Amino acid sequence: MKTIIEPFRIKSVEPIRFTTKVERTKILKEAGYNPFLIDAEDVIIDLLTDSGTSAMSASQWAGVMEGDESYAGSKSFFKFESAVKKITNHEFIIPTHQGRAAEKILFTIVGGKGKYIPNNTHFDTTRANVEFSGAEAIDLLNEIGKKPEVKADFKGNMDVEKLEEFIKKTGTENIPLVMITVTNNSGGGQPVSMQNIKDVRAVCDKYNLPLFLDACRFAENAYFIKMREKGYENKSILEICQEMFSYSDGATMSAKKDALVNIGGFLSINNQELALQSRNLLIVTEGFPTYGGLSGRDLEAVAKGLEEVVDENYLQYRIKSTEYLGNKITAEGVPIIEPPGGHAIYIDAKRFLPNVPPQEFPGQSIVCELYLEGGIRTVEIGSVMFGKYDEEGNVVSPSMELVRLAIPRRVYTQSHIDYVAEVVIEVYKNRDRLKGYKIIEEAPMLRHFTARFEQL
Ligand SMILES: Cc1ncc(COP(=O)(O)O)c(C=O)c1O
Repeated sequence: MKTIIEPFRIKSVEPIRFTTKVERTKILKEAGYNPFLIDAEDVIIDLLTDSGTSAMSASQWAGVMEGDESYAGSKSFFKFESAVKKITNHEFIIPTHQGRAAEKILFTIVGGKGKYIPNNTHFDTTRANVEFSGAEAIDLLNEIGKKPEVKADFKGNMDVEKLEEFIKKTGTENIPLVMITVTNNSGGGQPVSMQNIKDVRAVCDKYNLPLFLDACRFAENAYFIKMREKGYENKSILEICQEMFSYSDGATMSAKKDALVNIGGFLSINNQELALQSRNLLIVTEGFPTYGGLSGRDLEAVAKGLEEVVDENYLQYRIKSTEYLGNKITAEGVPIIEPPGGHAIYIDAKRFLPNVPPQEFPGQSIVCELYLEGGIRTVEIGSVMFGKYDEEGNVVSPSMELVRLAIPRRVYTQSHIDYVAEVVIEVYKNRDRLKGYKIIEEAPMLRHFTARFEQL
């Protein structure tokens, strides 16, 4: 097979500022060893997130010029609404400024004390919004999804038996909805199979519960279904996306991922009463229902992005370039969540640094070293992001300690990715020198964004 190439030419470029290791040592110290607190200008390759970091296409930029900035009933809203409906077929489309705004509205209405929201794995903002409402966020990932070293096709699947047990134990009156996150960001960017979505739907039907998708990476998930699930080889990506959404009653979406834009999101809903309540809240927190926290030009860019993202050539390049990085570093022994996910490579920090216990944040140690060694910014997804304290103040760790290398869409070339691989391999070779960290400052929620650390 011929080399898979980037399916675009570059029309506009942004210079990268290079730093030396000496400079980076000072910068990292000043940032309290938290890359979220480093200025973007001081980063060579930014793999902190794939969210809002996409390069927009010429057609999206042209759409920006066409944005209708009318307060009510703007033309751009109707293009946005029709692009979202084409994929989701949901009835009520509510624009929000990003994914968490959609989550905030949804869980303010359906959440609250005594309620439970099951999911394969809640993303951190989803969990925060569920918990902020007073409800409990329940993760019901299948067992294989928790084993980083095991290669399997659909490690994002929900454990359907556990879901049913949970519903029986908890009572349907306490579960306002069930959610599935596609792909499963916090569990390695792993896809969910169509069969699993159907099975979860069947359980929801049995207990009369609505099913919502956390749809941020719906197109990447659809590409994995096409590649890996029998019966979908010859279906178009759009058809697969439409089938995925057909089993759902609603969705929250961060357009900053698979709508290929820098800001945007939506809440899509079939239930009229819920849509009405959501729109009322939207007006208080986001804006009028036909712009909801976005400008007309943003709505245009989302509408075009949703068309572009279902292009199979784009998705092939996207998924293969992530896999390329994964294969290069695993060939040198670097432990990652297998197989490579859609939008990111997740280094398994427990196996990378077996001598640094979870309480000393092995993931954070790798994150800092990748920045020092090559100016690469990544993020810890482990005890820093999800750790809690028990009554005695001991850190209670999640099951996995990960470092995420998220690949922005259409931004970096293959030589950038080669550079990343070289740096990761270099850090891995010198892993015996890495030390743990302790937190010296932290916020009560979502502490990873602002916490400061000291090296042990
Ligand atoms: C699975 C998932 N859900 C929700 C969100 C929140 O979206 P936003 O950052 O647009 O608020 C993200 C963002 O990374 C995500 O990955």
